[in-house]
Amino acid sequence: FINYIHYFLLAYLLGSIPFALIVALPQGVDPRKEGSKNPGATNVARLLGKKWGLITFLGDAGKGIFALLLTKIFTSLSFKETPELYAGVAFFSVLGHLFSPFLKFKGGKGVATTIGTFLILTPKAMLPSLVCFLIAVLLSGFVSLGSLIASASLPIFIYLFNYPTEYIFSSIFLTVLIWIKHRENIKRLLQGQEKTWKKRR
Ligand code: G3P
Repeated sequence: FINYIHYFLLAYLLGSIPFALIVALPQGVDPRKEGSKNPGATNVARLLGKKWGLITFLGDAGKGIFALLLTKIFTSLSFKETPELYAGVAFFSVLGHLFSPFLKFKGGKGVATTIGTFLILTPKAMLPSLVCFLIAVLLSGFVSLGSLIASASLPIFIYLFNYPTEYIFSSIFLTVLIWIKHRENIKRLLQGQEKTWKKRR
């Protein structure tokens, strides 16, 4: 762990860049104050439309991918050789998104960054998880429901596709954090009061 700490720190810092705010604040909208009050792609889509939501998603997913690629360039180690390194980098980039030092250690819900990093690390597992996500969102209109189902399924798919144990553990920790960050969504879903991602005029 100590050997890799600078890569984890770099991942944490990259992960903490809040793309929802970079996209929305210049347009006079603060996603922390409106809609679901979450600085994430879903809430940006809800407040500003799907184009800006997609841009936020790509930024938040991309920063995690960037952290993995930078680590790979610096170390020349493969994802198979040192899964403990890359599982840690993915974990810390999402942690940065969840608890950003730029936002007084608040942040988003971690879904886009988890999707980005695990699409690179464990693509065979992320793809079926994404299918679960899309089906749930298309049927219900609730991104939160898709996020909960997809994040719960990811460690199972990682296990089924025989990826290294480090990736299973990293994804389990992230799923727990994602579910904790979605606790208000879970309450709203159970009470039938969850909001869809669609922009209302
Ligand atoms: O990734 C966040 C999503 O699952 C829920 O977002 O804005 O509906 O709380 P939101």
